[in-house]
Amino acid sequence: MDFDRIIDRRGTHSVKWDMMEATFGVKADDGIAMWVADMDFPPPACVQRAVEKMAAHGVYGYFGDDRPYLEAIQWWMQARHGWAVDPKWVFTTHGLVNGTSMCVDAFTKAGDGVVLMTPVYHAFARVIKAAGREVVECRLKDEGGRYVLDIGAWDAQMTGRETMLILCSPHNPGGRVWSAEELRAIADFCKRHDLLLVSDEIHHDLVYPGQKHVVMANAAPDCLDRMILMTATTKTFNIAGCHSGNVIIPDEKLRAIFAGRMMAMGVSPNSFGIHMATAAYSPEGAAWVDGLMAYLDGNRQVFDRGIAAIPGLQSMRLEATYLAWVDFAGTGMAAPEFIARVEKDARIAANHGVSFGAGGETFLRFNLATPRAHVSEAVQRLQKAFADLQ
Ligand SMILES: Cc1ncc(COP(=O)(O)O)c(C=O)c1O
Repeated sequence: MDFDRIIDRRGTHSVKWDMMEATFGVKADDGIAMWVADMDFPPPACVQRAVEKMAAHGVYGYFGDDRPYLEAIQWWMQARHGWAVDPKWVFTTHGLVNGTSMCVDAFTKAGDGVVLMTPVYHAFARVIKAAGREVVECRLKDEGGRYVLDIGAWDAQMTGRETMLILCSPHNPGGRVWSAEELRAIADFCKRHDLLLVSDEIHHDLVYPGQKHVVMANAAPDCLDRMILMTATTKTFNIAGCHSGNVIIPDEKLRAIFAGRMMAMGVSPNSFGIHMATAAYSPEGAAWVDGLMAYLDGNRQVFDRGIAAIPGLQSMRLEATYLAWVDFAGTGMAAPEFIARVEKDARIAANHGVSFGAGGETFLRFNLATPRAHVSEAVQRLQKAFADLQ
């Protein structure tokens, strides 16, 4: 586990590195890619071995018999999250953006409102709008640099046309690990307004020491008849290119509807994803995640210290995820100016906060899952780009 090793990803068809010039005008030769949420690290050796075994065998036919995969999921969820998953609840989709779109397609109809707690992962709104549903933005409250729920305000916003809420737990961006009480309040909100609750828990393993992720099914076991949970190995083990995710549906009636849509859309598993995930959900994979989180904790500290030294910038204290969420409001600059300083002066590609919905306008999101040398260099460049504020 040498997370300091710099691996050049340029010229490998990596979105993060090979699309940053086209997207932000930041050249890859001396730019730092801190946008797309994947990591610049190889996965644990057990995952690498699984791919090598497939390559050595050399026949890449259709995948069948997912029992070891389902057992691995069961083991991981029980051992790491205290959640008992029945294998028959699990559907394998082509990742969780695909899982989200399948849920929107299966369980809502054109014109329905889908509630998001914004700012939130941008693909949710993209999928909802593309499917002809309406995004209903319920804004999180920023309380001293920490997002909290604002359920009273959200209650007042509901019109009766909303049929689903998509939760991001832990939250991207901002890195909140929702407490059992907060999750309970969200589930009660869904009950009150008769919303289906889709809980995207893709970041659940990326939790910093001292924090505990609570699975929505454990926080609100009485709401399983309106709950869909989504998990994956891809974010945890940096294997997003294999496009594989789990949509987990405890309720039998909801499961039958979803199974019908899976059939209608012709979704079947990608064998690479299944083999990698089965290898990842193991004691070796678990030890790797613990090492990863200790390393990311160090990156988070370097980044937060560096940002705290720039007047007017505030980085939210991450409880989970490697996605730092930095507020530039205190600089008094309009977005085009602070963005130009980050992209042109510091030569850093970071996600624009406005794409995460209401409340994100004054923010940029920086991906810290990269060797520490990159994080330190990024901090130095940012300090220089905003040196006049010192
Ligand atoms: C909350 C959330 N869901 C889903 C995804 C992407 O999932 P996938 O790559 O499985 O489509 C991301 C990626 O950053 C994410 O943050």
